[in-house]
Amino acid sequence: MAAGNPTELEVIRVAYLGRSGRLTSTIKKIKGLSPEDKKQAGVLINDTKNVIESEIANKKNSFKATPRKWFDPTIPGIKPKIGHLHLITQAISNISQTFEKIGFVRVRYPEVEWDWLAFEALNMPKGHPARDEWETFFVDAPDHPKYGQIVLTPHTSSGQVREMLRVKAPPIRMINIAKCYRRQSDVAHVPMFHQFEGLVIDKGISIANLKGTLDYFARNYFGTNRKTRLRPYHFQFTEPSFEVDVSCDICAGRGCRLCKEGWLELGGAGMVHPTVLKNGGINPKIYSGFAFGWGVERVLMMKSGLKIPDVRLLYSSDLNFLQQF
Ligand code: FA5
Repeated sequence: MAAGNPTELEVIRVAYLGRSGRLTSTIKKIKGLSPEDKKQAGVLINDTKNVIESEIANKKNSFKATPRKWFDPTIPGIKPKIGHLHLITQAISNISQTFEKIGFVRVRYPEVEWDWLAFEALNMPKGHPARDEWETFFVDAPDHPKYGQIVLTPHTSSGQVREMLRVKAPPIRMINIAKCYRRQSDVAHVPMFHQFEGLVIDKGISIANLKGTLDYFARNYFGTNRKTRLRPYHFQFTEPSFEVDVSCDICAGRGCRLCKEGWLELGGAGMVHPTVLKNGGINPKIYSGFAFGWGVERVLMMKSGLKIPDVRLLYSSDLNFLQQF
C-alpha cells in the first residue's frame, strides 16, 4: 500500500470499502451465483476485506508512532550561488561603452565571412603573401560567384567594407566587436578570440584624429600610469599603418614571459587605404578615414591589476581561475 498520509489512506478505504467501492460492488454481484460459488466468493471477499482493513489500520498506527518532524516554514530558502559575466563579456561591454561615449556606433558582423570581404576588398588579392599572416580556416562549402570562398572571419577588418556598404554616405563611426578565428595557440594566442575594430570616415579626417582616439581609449581603459607607443608597420588596407603597443602590466615594462621586452602589442591601426574606400563605394577624393583593430583578450590582459599571464587561461573553463575576478 503506497499511501503517503492519512488522507490518502481514507481515499483508498472509500475506493474499496465505501458504499460504491470496488469490493462493495463485487459483494452485490454474488447474488446471482450458485449456492456453492456464493459460499466460495463470500469467503474470498471476506478475506480480502479483512486484509484491506488490517493494512489500513497498520498504516494508520505507523503514522501515529512516528513523531512529526518540526518544520519552520518561515526559515528563508537557500540562495543559489550567483556567478558573474565572463571576463571577456565584461571587457566587451566596457570597450563598447568607452567608444559609445565619443559617438561610435556598436555593430557586430558575422563569424563566417566571404574571402572577398576578408581579403580582396581589403587590398589583398588572391595569392597575395600578406594573407599568410591571418592563418585562416577555410570552410568546405561552394564558392560565391563574386565573393569567393567562405572563411571563419580571421579579423574584424572585413566589417570596415560591410559598414561602408551598409551606411553608404559618411559620416561613419563604427565599433565592430566580434569573434575571430586563426590557426594559432600559445601563451599569447588562441584559435578563437575577439577583436574590436574602429572605423571613422568623414571629410577631413586625419592622422591627428586617429592619435587622439587611441590616446582617449588608452587613458580611459588602462589608466594614466600606462604608456602606449605607435610603431610604423605595414597593412595592405591602411596607409600609413601602425602597430599600437602598451607597456606590460605583468612586469611593469621590464620584460617577461608574456611580453618578452616590456611592450605588448594591442593591434594595428592606420588611415584607410583609398582602394578600400573605393571597394566600399566611397569616393576617396572626398572622404578619408582611419581604422584600428585590437584584440579584446590582449587589451583585457593589459588592464592594470589583472595580471593574467597566459591568454589560454581565459578559455580553460577553470572555475578556480574565473572565480578570482
Ligand atoms: C589585424 O588583424 C588587423 N586587421 C588590424 C588592423 C585593423 C590594422 C585596422 C589596421 C587597421 P593583427 O593580425 O595584428 O591585425 O591582429 C590584431 C590584434 O588581434 C593582435 O594585436 C592581437 O591583439 C589580436 N590577435 C590576433 N591574433 C590573435 C590570437 N590568435 N589570439 C588572441 N589575440 C589575437
